[in-house]
Amino acid sequence: MLFPTALILASSARLASAATAPVFAPPSKGPLVQTANYTSFSNNTLNDKKVVKGKAFSRIIYVWLENTDFETASSTPIFESLSEQGILLTNYNSVTHPSEPNYIASVGGDFFGAHGDSMYHIPSNISCVVDLLEDKDVSWATYQESMPSDEFYGFAATSPDYIFPGTAPYPFYMRKHNPLIIFDAVSQDPERVKRVRTFNDFANDVVNGTLPQWSFVTPNMANDAHDTDIDFAASFLEYWLLPLLTDPRVNGEDTLILITFDENETATIQNRVYAVVLGTAVPVNLRGTTDDTFYTHYSELSTVQANWGLKSLGRQDTNATMSNVFSFVAQKTGYKNVHVSAAQAPQLNLSAVAPGPLNSDAYIPFAAPNLKARGAGGGSVLLRPGLDTKLTAASLPPAVNLAALNTTTPWQMSPETTSGKNIIPCAGAACP
Ligand SMILES: *[C@@H]1O[C@H](CO)[C@@H](O)[C@H](O)[C@H]1NC(C)=O
Ligand SMILES: *[C@@H]1O[C@H](CO)[C@@H](O)[C@H](O)[C@H]1NC(C)=O
Ligand SMILES: *[C@@H]1O[C@H](CO)[C@@H](O)[C@H](O)[C@H]1NC(C)=O
Ligand SMILES: *[C@@H]1O[C@H](CO)[C@@H](O)[C@H](O)[C@H]1NC(C)=O
Ligand SMILES: *[C@@H]1O[C@H](CO)[C@@H](O)[C@H](O)[C@H]1NC(C)=O
Ligand SMILES: *[C@@H]1O[C@H](CO)[C@@H](O)[C@H](O)[C@H]1NC(C)=O
Ligand SMILES: *[C@@H]1O[C@H](CO)[C@@H](O)[C@H](O)[C@H]1NC(C)=O
Ligand SMILES: *[C@@H]1O[C@H](CO)[C@@H](O)[C@H](O)[C@H]1NC(C)=O
Repeated sequence: MLFPTALILASSARLASAATAPVFAPPSKGPLVQTANYTSFSNNTLNDKKVVKGKAFSRIIYVWLENTDFETASSTPIFESLSEQGILLTNYNSVTHPSEPNYIASVGGDFFGAHGDSMYHIPSNISCVVDLLEDKDVSWATYQESMPSDEFYGFAATSPDYIFPGTAPYPFYMRKHNPLIIFDAVSQDPERVKRVRTFNDFANDVVNGTLPQWSFVTPNMANDAHDTDIDFAASFLEYWLLPLLTDPRVNGEDTLILITFDENETATIQNRVYAVVLGTAVPVNLRGTTDDTFYTHYSELSTVQANWGLKSLGRQDTNATMSNVFSFVAQKTGYKNVHVSAAQAPQLNLSAVAPGPLNSDAYIPFAAPNLKARGAGGGSVLLRPGLDTKLTAASLPPAVNLAALNTTTPWQMSPETTSGKNIIPCAGAACP
């Protein structure tokens, strides 16, 4: 067993604090070789023929790691070398604690009051980035390391403990780090859900030349530093990312790769995380530079909107303060970023203070997006079937129990793993 207390302590767990920190072991012979360590082998490949040219890049790959402070990551050798190859974003911020709301925010434009790592689901009339991408025929997928099969819906999954062979299977996969499966608009759509894929299918898609234009990559609970430490994650990047950087099937023409972290380690100070953009799309004269523009995870949405002229979600992706577009992309697309001084920067280390449909302590229903909003892509707000535009934020009743938010301490106060609206009861041994 890799590190049992990791599950108990949820997102604050650090294997580094254990007496014997594990040493990285490769799950496979290489990032493009399928392996039994991932449980299921690939049985299909994507088949997207169309490539939609973007203004600053034609492919974007997000790689999210876990729970590390900016200073810790930026002073670790592999990350230092990545910073030299790309643009280090020195003022990139997570939006809350703990993990899952950050992942939801990065694809949904809001975390909807979530303050736990529960088995949330978001109804199918609520839009996410996939709607924006498909609206302009931009291909997409998410690749989840150690997810036992494509389309997997469960809360967690164990697989062979290849780091400590001979011990019990380890819960390498957790749904809380798989943002798109949380949206019914993806998970309940038989065509879309095929694009929630395993790492063996990542290998398959790359080898077959069908890696899509937008990908969200989640390494497993050991490789993303969640149950380990930054050195372990660094060794993973050395094994997995570095060879792909020189592979034209991944980092071909016009490719942008964002490496970042879901959140900073502790909640008591601002929530700044390491973020670097690299890849062939980064202009040569900007490689090895830093950019101190105020960004958040919502910038991941606004940047693709600007790049491909997408519609918006009409949520925090259209809040100018919260969603500056990565500068070199803003320059190429003519989008004007706003300056957010340190004094103006919102506190993003807060948790369990926002009412919302994923907060059973202070519940309010899902609201329609702001139809008048204009995002970085310039287009209108995309509406999903079944969305009632009359249910504006202003029209909804106030949260049932706002006072609850005042009596609680941050993030772990109410794990919400088994009950609550928009929360599916978690079943099985891996439930917290
Ligand atoms: C599984 O991982 C272990 C540890 O790194 C490695 O020795 C083994 O070769 C891997 N198995 C496969 C099928 O790649
Ligand atoms: C094939 O893929 C489907 C989902 O696309 C998955 O449910 C199934 O387990 C996979 N089969 C194998 C043998 O990997
Ligand atoms: C994808 O590539 C693999 C390895 O080259 C090959 O075995 C497989 O048949 C291909 N899949 C499809 C659907 O073409
Ligand atoms: C958030 O960070 C601010 C500024 O560093 C700090 O004053 C505040 O106490 C933090 N809030 C929490 C809930 O930790
Ligand atoms: C979190 O981020 C803040 C702001 O960048 C930084 O000063 C702090 O060292 C980080 N780490 C912790 C443990 O708060
Ligand atoms: C935009 O973001 C700022 C900073 O977090 C916040 O104060 C403001 O309420 C947001 N505006 C809207 C319309 O959500
Ligand atoms: C979304 O759909 C659900 C289920 O049909 C419905 O109850 C809810 O009012 C809808 N919400 C919005 C904002 O349209
Ligand atoms: C929560 O606390 C703040 C500050 O103490 C207070 O102003 C506010 O009225 C409280 N809200 C509720 C709903 O109790």
